[in-house]
Amino acid sequence: MQNVVEKLDAGSVSAKDFHQQDPEFQELMLNIISIHVASELYGADCFEKSILRAPKPEFKMRMAKTVMEEYGHHLRFRMLMDELGLDWEEYAYRKGHLTTFNTPIDSWADQVVFLALVDRAAAHQFRQFVHSPYGPFQKACQETLKEEYGHVGLGMDGVKHLLQSEEGRAQVQSAVRKWLPVGLQSFGGDASKRNVSYRRWGIKQDTNENMRAAYYEQVRSIITQDWGVELPEDMSEVWSSDGDDIERAY
Ligand SMILES: [Fe+2]
Ligand SMILES: [Fe+2]
Repeated sequence: MQNVVEKLDAGSVSAKDFHQQDPEFQELMLNIISIHVASELYGADCFEKSILRAPKPEFKMRMAKTVMEEYGHHLRFRMLMDELGLDWEEYAYRKGHLTTFNTPIDSWADQVVFLALVDRAAAHQFRQFVHSPYGPFQKACQETLKEEYGHVGLGMDGVKHLLQSEEGRAQVQSAVRKWLPVGLQSFGGDASKRNVSYRRWGIKQDTNENMRAAYYEQVRSIITQDWGVELPEDMSEVWSSDGDDIERAY
């Protein structure tokens, strides 16, 4: 059995108390923070081309705002490292960005389906993190979550616009096949040891399996009912876990 640790209250740990916490708690928090420092910057760079790809000025403006906010997320999480007197570059480059960004965003349809599905998966993570014990991280996640909902909204509107034409419908359909496995993968492995530690410290409340299943149920209903793209009821026909921690997932 794992040692029983005393659950810390949401937001109860301040920056000045951080280095007095259990080493495992510190390690887990720094892991998540550095994932964000690296991924928000890398993601913003990946999104930037989509501003000009957007089909009309309204979408260009909202895409530009999204890119700006993603750079802002990088700076927001980077400030958490600065506050702790840590070198963000050293941590971020040791950790690397999330594997979600290994798949290239090649078109406007890719971009909006990414926002609707993969940013939505990120929002599911942030909804867990807003209960976490480290106060500065909790606050950063609350602010980020609000903006992620906006990104998902842009994705949904962009898809709706594409669905108006035959060509756009075909693009959405193939982008779903491309990005849904990426969204599912981002929850990390089933039976993840790291997830057990996250839950022990109250940084997450749910298992990767449960979070992924809830996500699939939600996106499946959107994709099949609102977008008219067929999907199997059984998630394992779309994606299956390799059963372990997945490097560079959450
Ligand atoms: Fe972000
Ligand atoms: Fe985002």
